[in-house]
Amino acid sequence: MIDKVVEIAREAGTAVRKGFGKKHSLEYKTNLSNFVTETDKESERIIIDFVKKEFPSHSVLAEESGEHRSSSEYLWVIDPLDGTSNFAHGLPIFSVSIGVQKNGETICGAVYDVMRDEMFYAEMGSGSYCNSEKLSVSKNDDLKKSMLVTGFPYDISENPDFAMERFNAFLKEARAIRRLGSAAIDFCYVASGVFDGFWEVSLNSWDACAGSLIVEEAGGVVTDFNEKRITKGTKQYLASNGKVHQAMIDILKAVSNI
Ligand code: IPD
Ligand code: CA
Ligand code: CA
Repeated sequence: MIDKVVEIAREAGTAVRKGFGKKHSLEYKTNLSNFVTETDKESERIIIDFVKKEFPSHSVLAEESGEHRSSSEYLWVIDPLDGTSNFAHGLPIFSVSIGVQKNGETICGAVYDVMRDEMFYAEMGSGSYCNSEKLSVSKNDDLKKSMLVTGFPYDISENPDFAMERFNAFLKEARAIRRLGSAAIDFCYVASGVFDGFWEVSLNSWDACAGSLIVEEAGGVVTDFNEKRITKGTKQYLASNGKVHQAMIDILKAVSNI
């Protein structure tokens, strides 16, 4: 199945690449920061058509069109364009993210970094790869020497959920912090050892499904901010190399208890 997931992530990514740099009509969702372009929709259509053709019985959860449920034990979790703001503003950091779950457990997934032509993928129990190179998380166990990454939710002004306080706390404790604008790529860069850790307060399953498996299969750890395993409704994600996980949890818990 991973070969099929990779194939369609690449095909959708090719359509996204063609749309990059063009003028886009933005359709607003909840506020002026949260919008969708025709390219998000086109990419999603390509992926869903593929699933319907190749795996007609499978269920689909896709960011732009929601749930297409069947009684199948398989669910495709799709973010057709992760990093829409970057895409629309001409910043070449965005991806296509596709995870497949069986009875609620992610069994394989791919994140395609469209402009760098980097295909990250993993299958449960078989490791993680970028193109054909095997990935491993970093070995660093010192938060002070860590490079971390985060993201901010679109509704931060209405629902801040201590996002700024957590950012401030990590600024003081880590070597450096980045904000790239594609959560799926953030996970993959934890898997490849670029980043030692990634946290974000409010993600949806399509942002995190494939990326979480890619981190775990590269030897990393993914939990919520209370060290609990990820379940269907999890919003807060912490992904790390495992070695700085506890130090990051301590900071996240301290901020939650302010
Ligand atoms: C967003 C990106 C961003 C993250 C946001 C996500 P979208 O996804 O992953 O990095 O900070 O929380 O919603 O809307 O571009 O698919
Ligand atoms: Ca997303
Ligand atoms: Ca998206």
